[in-house]
Amino acid sequence: MKHYAIIGYPLGHTFSPAMHNHAFKHYGIDAVYEPRSIPPEGFEKGLQQLRDDGIRGFNITIPYKQRILSHLQKLDTLAEKIGAVNTVVCREDGRWIGYNTDAYGFLLPLREMLKNIRNILVLGAGGAARAVAFSLVTEAAPASLTLVNRTPARARELKSALEEHTAVPIKCYDSASFKSDVKYDLIVNTTSVGMGRMRGESPLPGLASCVHEGSLVYDLIYNPSPTRLLEQAAALHLKTLNGLPMLIGQGSRAFYLWNGLYFPEDVGNIFSTA
Ligand code: ATR
Repeated sequence: MKHYAIIGYPLGHTFSPAMHNHAFKHYGIDAVYEPRSIPPEGFEKGLQQLRDDGIRGFNITIPYKQRILSHLQKLDTLAEKIGAVNTVVCREDGRWIGYNTDAYGFLLPLREMLKNIRNILVLGAGGAARAVAFSLVTEAAPASLTLVNRTPARARELKSALEEHTAVPIKCYDSASFKSDVKYDLIVNTTSVGMGRMRGESPLPGLASCVHEGSLVYDLIYNPSPTRLLEQAAALHLKTLNGLPMLIGQGSRAFYLWNGLYFPEDVGNIFSTA
């Protein structure tokens, strides 16, 4: 039997095992995908355990999408540009290759709307924010991108990295002092504020002052759904998107990298009973 996994910490929220195990069963592949919660102080040990267990591939979620980079032998071009990895292919010769399938998943439900997006606000500056911001500045043609993060140095670092790939003007703020001077067409939450221990909290209590009536609010969180942020948006009659289409899109692309097959079309049905 082949083994696959998702690593992160904490991992209470993940729907990935249900999706991948459903797909293995659908195609009759003798494999299992399991969650591995690895605490930060045991990160290297946890990776060694994956090697010892003969893992064939794994996904990476909060907070390790950047930390994994130094443990890989090769990076796919897109993952290298983004500077974050959410999927690893473990080759039989022992080499681990990093990919980013978040960018593809993130854009899936947005494709039709990209041309109407001028001013963008991204909340967060971690690994998921890197894929989101990179996708937006390279695939849309925004007039501005604003990055807001609890740790402002991380937002500045992301700004510098993005400036190597785009001429779109980028502004950075720390969450505590952020006041919008623009009405954003798109607001994306890439932080973990709204899930796990922060369930019920909003990463942007002042949402109303940042939007116009056509704004779209996109929260990458899929559990819970809606999040507090999406409840705020719904109360303002705004368009909303949660993280479920992105979850399925990134997972399907990862499954393809490992098996040469995409998820079966009925994969979304498992969430209607979840
Ligand atoms: P991922 O790789 O999945 O994006 P990450 O790199 O740990 O995970 O990033 C998590 C994001 O959520 C970061 O923007 C983080 O802010 P910091 O850079 O300041 O750590 C944000 N985040 C996590 N917990 C938070 C909290 N309690 N309040 C505000 N932001 C938080």
